[in-house]
Amino acid sequence: MAKTFYVTTPIYYVNDVPHIGHAYTTIAADVIARFRRLSGDRVFFLTGTDEHGQKIERVALASGERPIELADRVVLRFKGLWERLNILNDDFIRTTEERHQKSVRELFQMVFDRGDIYLGEYEDWYCVFDETFLTETQVGGERVCPDCGRPVERLKEESYFFRLSRYQDPLLEFYERNPDFIQPSFRRNEVISFVKGGLRDLSISRTSFSWGIPIPNNERHVIYVWFDALANYITAAGFPHDMERFNEVWPADIHLVGKDILRFHAIYWPAFLMSSGLPLPRKVFAHGWWTVEGEKMSKSKGNVVDPFAVIDEFGADVLRFFLLREVPFGLDGDFSRTALIGRINGDLANGLGNLVSRSLGMIEKYSEGRVPKPGLPEPFDLIVKEKALDLVRQLEEAMNEVAFHKALNAIWDFIALVNKYVDESAPWSLHKAGKKERLDTVLWVLVEAIRIIALLVYPFIPKSAEEIWKRIGILEPIKSERIANARKWGLINPGSRIEKGGSLFPRYESK
Ligand code: MSP
Repeated sequence: MAKTFYVTTPIYYVNDVPHIGHAYTTIAADVIARFRRLSGDRVFFLTGTDEHGQKIERVALASGERPIELADRVVLRFKGLWERLNILNDDFIRTTEERHQKSVRELFQMVFDRGDIYLGEYEDWYCVFDETFLTETQVGGERVCPDCGRPVERLKEESYFFRLSRYQDPLLEFYERNPDFIQPSFRRNEVISFVKGGLRDLSISRTSFSWGIPIPNNERHVIYVWFDALANYITAAGFPHDMERFNEVWPADIHLVGKDILRFHAIYWPAFLMSSGLPLPRKVFAHGWWTVEGEKMSKSKGNVVDPFAVIDEFGADVLRFFLLREVPFGLDGDFSRTALIGRINGDLANGLGNLVSRSLGMIEKYSEGRVPKPGLPEPFDLIVKEKALDLVRQLEEAMNEVAFHKALNAIWDFIALVNKYVDESAPWSLHKAGKKERLDTVLWVLVEAIRIIALLVYPFIPKSAEEIWKRIGILEPIKSERIANARKWGLINPGSRIEKGGSLFPRYESK
């Protein structure tokens, strides 16, 4: 039996409510998961929350709560957002759960038994916001975090260390043997040169606060939050409580992460796993960051985009579509109201929405609301057919590269072609001229093209795809359809009743 396809998002810190950056990764993972399910794979799609660490402890303290109260409160915001975005995750992990604490202690023990953990003293810098250890050179004279720019803190405490230095060569060999492990490839090069620059042993415990998982046999120490957090991926797969399932699900096929946390996933995580003897994930894909109207998103600037507000105004599918259509996955992008409205009016309203509404409108008008029976095809019909059948191939290729923008480009090129087909075939003139058979053929080609489009856009804009599916008269739910049926031409049944319905994507005025 084929292995379950396992896709993950990062687990989100609960010190803050979700914003579009978080929504981005989770939407991307959902699209992959839905696409795989359509392709017939068994899928395990995991997301969750990262609830331990000094940052969470401090933020809780500042708001007069216990850390777990903060976590219990914020986790609802994340779960609520995933529901509103129609995210179909198979599990949701919280690092405070018992199953996870057990898993982290077990992983720690395995690494310890391998001789890769020793007790020492950490004396250097720490960024609480990024929960990351930093050297003198990294913080510079200014004493700020090179990643987030916040002031760093001096630490001097007893600490357990992981012999990361031991894994420098094994990691380099691993990257060499698995050229697709880190993507995009320019990120891979960055990681490789970082590792070649030399790896210091990594502090993996803290004693100066207590909100974390205590170290087995030395409870004064809590396990470093990144060691804890990364282990979520194996916990949810069944480690160590259900090893049969674990062996079926692990390794992860793809960890989706933002570029800021690539190092943790592409260096620390594989090193921990190598040490413990567990298999390594197959791929880590780092996406870029969103700015807002050209500026870095930040609380102090007050420009953090609230995904709930975007969904209230424009709908979940619009947000899903915009984030994946606007920017090549892997590069940075800019979120702006103008760009968002441009995509809605252009791609969704004029492109897809218009195609569906005019096609179904004509069937209503010229064919009594039923899919007509086609006659013999003409050259343009055959071009539409050929392009439609080639679309699945393009989509699969793009999805294998995790290039959502390429997938959407291909689909929208096809939508443009079909809209052109309507203009050139001019069903209204055929009707006027009484060319019934030709008219029926054109209308049939349109429904067939729309069937394929609906199926292929389903992973991206599931609610709209479901609606289109229903409108073209298919009774079985789209989610139980298989992508293989987008490789077949002629599946739509003449005689099916269509439903014109209202506007799928209303246009917006850009202010
Ligand atoms: N808790 C860690 C991840 C642990 S995974 C084992 C963490 N959490 S986070 O909540 O701070 O960030 C989660 C994700 O959100 C990261 O992948 C990060 O890249 C992403 N983003 C945060 N701001 C973002 C943008 N402005 N744009 C795009 N993604 C952004 O890190």
